[in-house]
Amino acid sequence: MNKELLKYIKASPTPYHAVSHTATVLRENGYTEIRENDEWKLEAGKGYYVTRNGSSLISFRVPKGDFDGFMMTASHGDSPTFKIKENPVISDGKYLRLSVEKYGGMLCSTWLDRPLSIAGRIMVRKENGFESRLVDLKDVSALIPNVAIHMNRNANDGMSYNPAIDMPPIISSGAGTETFLDKIASAADAKKEDIITTDLFLYNSQDGIEWGDFISSPRLDDLQCAFSALRAFVDSEKDDVKNMPVYCLFDNEEVGSRTKQGAASTFLYDVLCRIVFALDGSDEDYRRKVASSFLVSCDNAHASHPNHPEYSDKNHTVYMNGGIVIKYNANQQYTTDAVSSALFRLVCEEAGVPCQSYANRADMPGGSTLGNIANTQVSLNTVDIGLAQLAMHSSFETAGALDTEYLVRALTVFYKKHLSIGQDNSYELI
Ligand code: CO
Repeated sequence: MNKELLKYIKASPTPYHAVSHTATVLRENGYTEIRENDEWKLEAGKGYYVTRNGSSLISFRVPKGDFDGFMMTASHGDSPTFKIKENPVISDGKYLRLSVEKYGGMLCSTWLDRPLSIAGRIMVRKENGFESRLVDLKDVSALIPNVAIHMNRNANDGMSYNPAIDMPPIISSGAGTETFLDKIASAADAKKEDIITTDLFLYNSQDGIEWGDFISSPRLDDLQCAFSALRAFVDSEKDDVKNMPVYCLFDNEEVGSRTKQGAASTFLYDVLCRIVFALDGSDEDYRRKVASSFLVSCDNAHASHPNHPEYSDKNHTVYMNGGIVIKYNANQQYTTDAVSSALFRLVCEEAGVPCQSYANRADMPGGSTLGNIANTQVSLNTVDIGLAQLAMHSSFETAGALDTEYLVRALTVFYKKHLSIGQDNSYELI
């Protein structure tokens, strides 16, 4: 399972590539692409996917008969990185560097002295317009060098990194004739003069590895969950199911989700509405189905750090290979409540998968994630879960080797269930 995960991560250096690769996996499994600008004609028993901005994707399977609600997972395809600015090249006659800005909140030090590459999308001119094309240089193409300890004796005493000064990567000595744009153009099989503009990002080009009980790789947050949910979604086909399984992969979680394709957008709402209407349902049908739906918001969690166990709450310490982490937060940064937690625990029980409870230390603010943000557009029972990992937002993160499979197993069971809510405050997963 982890070999497959590492392949998925390698194919997904940016959210555009994550969506493109996920779409390929779905097509290979018989899913059909539908577009937001077309009329939708959906057939019972068939699977579909729709993308927005090429960087978010929602896939679903239409059940053969009527269905009660949507059983959904959401994870994110973006990771903290450096975006290459519009006028990219800085030259001092001896080095060519790239002008970059931060995308999300990374651990800057982990980006230094690493082989980096560049990927994203470019807009290529064509008659009457342009087309969006993916590009991935793949080879090592950039590096952000540290300052030698001899020149900065305080380097081990707590560094601060100014992104404008410390983080621009070198790309060459400037001696050759090939320009940065030449390189991008040839990797995308385009003419340099046809490139109108770009969305390009640095990425850590090191391959992920399995070692001992662990896996270490770039972008485990959140591609470990994105991959596991996808695998479960594809594996969970079942004939007599009375729910509609939905798989969501959102962009822009690392910058707050408030974009046209992020979890705060109308994307999920639009897709669910249109599914119900395309199947001849009414507005009331949509609302009834959402009331019987369940969302698992999947985003990685903080494992207890062996050198710094003091950062974890003593009663809510979670470990790699300890199973799925259910995340709690009184202020609802995590959506989990007793109802959604109980439902998800039953799923894990049936899958034979261990789970563990996480909450931040009461004196430490935590992060937020997709669940509560998605609920502002589509409001439904939601649980926040993840897999325990170390060094979140490092350019090379570490997680448990057993946990990927745990999540695949639990979500495979989840996707085959439907939720029934009784008048007496009872909940059943059937
Ligand atoms: Co995340």
